[in-house]
Amino acid sequence: MTSGLEAKSEVTKNERQEAPAARDVSVWKRKDLLGLELLSREEIVAVLDQAAGFKEISARSIKKAPTLRGKVVLTLFYEPSTRTRASFSLAAQRLSADVLELDLDASSAKKGESLVDTARNLRAMGVDVFVIRHQQAGAPALLARSVDASVINAGDGTHEHPTQGLLDIFTMREKFGDLKGKKVALVGDITHSRVARSNIWGLKKLGAEIGVIGPKTLVPGALAELGVSIHHHLDEVLDHYDVFNILRIQLERQGAGLFPGMREYSLHYGIDERRLARMKPSVMIMHPGPINRGVEISQAVADGINSVILQQVTNGLAVRMAVLALVQSARELAGVRKPK
Ligand code: CP
Repeated sequence: MTSGLEAKSEVTKNERQEAPAARDVSVWKRKDLLGLELLSREEIVAVLDQAAGFKEISARSIKKAPTLRGKVVLTLFYEPSTRTRASFSLAAQRLSADVLELDLDASSAKKGESLVDTARNLRAMGVDVFVIRHQQAGAPALLARSVDASVINAGDGTHEHPTQGLLDIFTMREKFGDLKGKKVALVGDITHSRVARSNIWGLKKLGAEIGVIGPKTLVPGALAELGVSIHHHLDEVLDHYDVFNILRIQLERQGAGLFPGMREYSLHYGIDERRLARMKPSVMIMHPGPINRGVEISQAVADGINSVILQQVTNGLAVRMAVLALVQSARELAGVRKPK
């Protein structure tokens, strides 16, 4: 039986602000996270392992670790976001960083100040980590070359959304363990999807088999060069995959006329209960959000027992804590200069 004193000291131990148990993440040496295309299998595994440790913190009553105490993390979002922005802010706060969220609509970007000038000025105030979302592919890479702070890509144009890819993979790994040979389908607007690209790069490196499914106008044939299989008839492959990761139709990035209309799209590619019934009973239904309910996914499937959509969001926090900690640690080990 536990004595009162032992119980008290147990509480004290659990309540203390402690980093999770050390894991071997020494393979990570990058000051920036720009995309999963650039990462090795070992680097991806290092992030996932570190995230598993940080997920433990979210189960504690005091959800804090001192990892980034005294550091400054800035979110710089040139495009709208709910999940990624809130998740990075919360992740940085859980690691005890000071967090700034720049409101670009009320900033001097509105007066024409460039991205690089904006970042250099903020770096001069001591920002250690920039988290950037930008409509232009390559903007985070430009920033990473322009400042000696760390830069994390939170989505750049149609290029990559690496932390979304990592949290998707983390969620699959929680269920399946090793992803080698697991069959993962990406359904929908692959052409405009940075989430698809990050999933493909990351999953390929972990040995998964990937299929991309959608109308010809939204699934570029060139993807076959990456070693993915391409399908235009969803109903023919419903029982083949272990995971369906369903992507949003990105009307904001499309020109006109890539498919006849939402009703038509939903008819051929929408995941509803009828299609779910023809999938493997254990199939994992994923969606990065935001969801167009009734278009690419039905209400019943989005909220049903196969759906892990909210688990993805929960896991995003741990993955972003891991990425923030790893890039900052790598930069410190490399001997960061003080802002000029
Ligand atoms: N999945 C995702 O990137 O969502 P937000 O656009 O809300 O950040």
